[in-house]
Amino acid sequence: MPTCNLYESSCMQEATGDTLRPGGFKLTEKALNFCGLNEQTRVLDLGCGMGATVAYLFQNHGINVVGLDPSSKLLNIAKVKNPFATFVTGSGDSLPFDNKSFECVLAECTLSLMHDLHVTLNEIHRVLEKDGWFVIHDVYAKKPEFLSNMNHFSMTSCMRGMHDLASLKEVLETIGFEVMLLEDCSQLLKELMVKIIFSHGSMGAFWGKTIEGEALQTCCSFEDNIKQCKPGYFMLIAKKGEK
Ligand SMILES: C[S@@+](CC[C@H](N)C(=O)[O-])C[C@H]1O[C@@H](n2cnc3c(N)ncnc32)[C@H](O)[C@@H]1O
Repeated sequence: MPTCNLYESSCMQEATGDTLRPGGFKLTEKALNFCGLNEQTRVLDLGCGMGATVAYLFQNHGINVVGLDPSSKLLNIAKVKNPFATFVTGSGDSLPFDNKSFECVLAECTLSLMHDLHVTLNEIHRVLEKDGWFVIHDVYAKKPEFLSNMNHFSMTSCMRGMHDLASLKEVLETIGFEVMLLEDCSQLLKELMVKIIFSHGSMGAFWGKTIEGEALQTCCSFEDNIKQCKPGYFMLIAKKGEK
C-alpha cells in the first residue's frame, strides 16, 4: 500500500514547530529529570525528525544525542541545523548499533509509526545497557476496541498507530522492561488540536492539506476513525531489567 510521510509536510511543521509532536520540550525535560540524564549519558533519539530534541539536549544540558530517522528530507534539515551532532539514516525495526550502545532511548511520538512494534521494542532492548532508560511519549486510544479499523489506512501518521496502553505495557514487560512511570498527558494533544483547528478551520481540513496521493481519498473516514478511538497522549518511562 502506498504511504506518505506527514511529518515532511510544511503544514505539519507549521502546526508543531521544530518538535513534530504535542507539548514541545515539556515531556523531554520531565523525562530528563526523572532518569537523571547528564553529559555522560549515551542517548539515542529514535525517529529524531528535524533534530529538535538533539539540539535541545545539547544546548541546554550538554548531552550528546545520536539521532536516527528514515526520512532523508528531515535528516538533511537536522544536519544543517545541528552540524555538531551525529545523525543516522535507519528504521526502528533494524537499529544499526551494537548491543548495549546506549543508556537511554527516546521515542518521542515515534513508536506509533513503526512497521512492526514488537521487533522495534526488541531492538531498543538490545541496544540499551542494563538499567538503561526507555522514554516513550505517544498517542494512545482511550477506546482501544476501535483500533483495528485504523489498519485500513495507509498514511504515515502517529494517529494511525495509536497504542493500546494495556497491551503495550504487557509487551514491554514480556520483553524485559520494568515500567517505572506511566502518565496521562492528553492535555498536550488537546492543545495541539486546538491550535490546528484555529489555523486550518477543522482537523479534516488539516488532514486534507497534509495527506497526499491515494491516501487523500480516505482522509474523511480516517478522521472519523480517529474520533471513534478517542485519542489521548501519554508518557511512559521503562527501565531495562535483568532479562
Ligand atoms: C511525530 S514525528 C516526531 C519527530 C521527533 N521525535 C520530534 O518529536 O520532533 C515522527 C518521526 O518518526 C519518524 N519515523 C517514521 N517511521 C519510522 C521508523 N520506522 N523508524 C524510526 N523513525 C520513524 C518520522 O520520519 C518522523 O520524523
